[in-house]
Amino acid sequence: MTKAIRSLGALGISLALTLPALAETAPTETPDIVIDGGAVTLPTFADAPAHLEGALGDKIYSGWVFRDAETRAMQEDDFANPSMAFVDQGIEAWNTVDGTEGKSCASCHNEIESMKGVRAVMPKVNAAGELWSMENYINDCRTNRMGAEAWKWSSQPMENMTLAISLQSRGMPVDVAIDGPAKPFWEKGKEIYYTRYGQLELSCANCHQQNYGQMIRADHLSQGQTNGFPVFRINGAGTVSLHERFSGCIRDTRAEPFEQGSQEFRDLELYVASRGNGLPVEGASVRH
Ligand code: HEC
Ligand code: HEC
Repeated sequence: MTKAIRSLGALGISLALTLPALAETAPTETPDIVIDGGAVTLPTFADAPAHLEGALGDKIYSGWVFRDAETRAMQEDDFANPSMAFVDQGIEAWNTVDGTEGKSCASCHNEIESMKGVRAVMPKVNAAGELWSMENYINDCRTNRMGAEAWKWSSQPMENMTLAISLQSRGMPVDVAIDGPAKPFWEKGKEIYYTRYGQLELSCANCHQQNYGQMIRADHLSQGQTNGFPVFRINGAGTVSLHERFSGCIRDTRAEPFEQGSQEFRDLELYVASRGNGLPVEGASVRH
C-alpha cells in the first residue's frame, strides 16, 4: 500500500471523493437561525450568485445547516454562544487607549456600531490598490494611527476585534466586490480554489463543491462558506479566523498551507466570500 493511499485511509475520506460525478446533496431542510427567540432571524440559504454559473446548483447554504442540533442551538442563544465572551473583550479593547498617540479605536470611530456593514464587504481593495482583509485595516490603524503594536493575524486580541466588528453586520448580506480593481485578485483566488494540493491532490472544490452534504470522517461537509467567520469551534475550544480555517483544510490534504495573511490567502478569502454573496453575515457563529 502506498503512503498516499494509507493516509487517505487514515483520513477516512469516503470513496465519494474519488468519483468524477457530482455527489453533492443539498440539505433537505433549511430553517432560519432564530436567535434569542426571534430578536434576530437569519436565513440559511440564498440564491447562488451568477458568477458561479451553477457550480453549486441554484442555492448556497450557510455552514450552520450542516451542523448538529446542539451546535445549532448554541448559535441561537447569544447567552450560550461562547463567541460572545470574545466579542465583549473586543469591545473592551475598542474603548481602550493603546499606543504612543494616546488613542483608542473609539477616539476616531466612536461607537463600535459605526462598523456596521464593514464585515459584509471584506476583503476589499484599499486606496493604494491592494486587497486588504479586515485584519490589515485594523493593524494599519494600530501601527500608523495609534502608534501601537500590530496584532498577529490569528492572535486572540485580533480575533476578539474581528468578532466584535463582524457582529455589527449580523444579518446583512455578504456583498464583496469582484469587478473593477478587485477582479485580478478574485481571478487569482478562483485559481487557488480549483487547484489540487497535497499528497491527496484535493482542491477546495473537490470537497466543498462536488461533495457538500456528504460525510467525511465524522464531519458533515458544508459548502465551505465564510459568512460565519470568525467562528467559535467547540472541538478546538476557541475562536478560529478564516485564514486559520483555510490552513487546516489545506493541511488535511497533506500540503503546506500559505501563510496566514499572505496575498494568496487574501485572494482566496475574496473568492470564497464571493461564493457566499447574498448569505447573511452571521457575525459570531458556532461550529463543532
Ligand atoms: C486616529 C484615528 C483612528 C484610530 C485611532 C483608529 N482608526 Fe480605524 N480608521 C481610521 C481612518 C481615517 C480610516 C479610513 C477610513 C476610510 O478611508 O474610509 C480607518 C479605517 C478603519 C477600518 C476600515 C473601515 C472600512 O470601512 O474600510 C477598520 C476596520 C478600522 N479602521 C478599525 C479600527 C480599529 C479596530 C481601531 C482600534 C484598534 C482603529 N480603527 C483605530 C482612523 C482611525
Ligand atoms: C478533504 C476535504 C476538504 C478540502 C480539500 C477542503 N476542506 Fe474546507 N472543510 C472540510 C471539512 C470537513 C470542514 C468542516 C465541516 C464543514 O463545514 O464543511 C471544512 C470547513 C471549511 C470552512 C468552514 C465552513 C463553516 O461554515 O464553518 C471553510 C470556510 C472551508 N472549509 C474552506 C476551504 C477552502 C477555501 C479550501 C481550499 C483551500 C478547503 N476548505 C478545502 C474539508 C475540506
